[in-house]
Amino acid sequence: MPPWSRTPWWGEVDRYGALTARTYDLLSGDPVYAVGRRLAIPAMGLRPGWRVLDLGCGTGLNLPALLDGVGPMGRVVGLDRSPAMLAVARRKRAGSSGAGQLRLVQGDMADPQAAREAAAGQPFDAVIATYALSLTPDPARVWRTVTGVLRPGAAVAVVDMARPTGRAALAAPLARLACRLGGADIDAHPWTVVEPELTLTRAWSRWAGHVRVLVGTWG
Ligand SMILES: C[S@@+](CC[C@H](N)C(=O)[O-])C[C@H]1O[C@@H](n2cnc3c(N)ncnc32)[C@H](O)[C@@H]1O
Repeated sequence: MPPWSRTPWWGEVDRYGALTARTYDLLSGDPVYAVGRRLAIPAMGLRPGWRVLDLGCGTGLNLPALLDGVGPMGRVVGLDRSPAMLAVARRKRAGSSGAGQLRLVQGDMADPQAAREAAAGQPFDAVIATYALSLTPDPARVWRTVTGVLRPGAAVAVVDMARPTGRAALAAPLARLACRLGGADIDAHPWTVVEPELTLTRAWSRWAGHVRVLVGTWG
């Protein structure tokens, strides 16, 4: 493993500590990264009453659209291992409509126990991971864990990053630096782990291939 792809001494949790959590929405919102969730969430075909898992939910940028999609009878569970990011997500939803349908769980998405805690005994109808799987050392392991708490036919959405191509390849060092600062491996391409197990897939590529979206049905 090359030295630059090792987990740094300050670790991944601290990278998403209080300072990042406070500034995350400002630095990670429009114009570049919001397009991923704007494409993925409507394409998941969420239905009223569904249970949705948001893997690595961070500060909860996906949550309003997910809660809208499942309606008052549905349930959204955000799983993240950073208490600081979860605290921001919790604060943002406090008092807003739909807050009752939301549960935030702290844990590692590769850990089957955390997945079971998120599911609380009922399989999920849908799962989404936006800009989160590329932070994990083994996206295939995360996917194996997640399939343990998904029902067959569940909707799956993966949004993540890759090096920009074509003329925008000139911006690749900048994109790589942004990913590295966020702890992501730009070459992880986590959608490739999930894609062979999905049917009815649709894929999008934006910002010269830097933002990739894959949506499909599992099993
Ligand atoms: C770049 S942020 C993305 C947050 C959110 N999904 C979004 O679209 O804005 C990555 C998030 O993944 C979380 N994360 C990274 N590795 C994780 C793991 N193994 N288990 C759970 N959460 C993890 C981080 O704490 C962070 O909140």
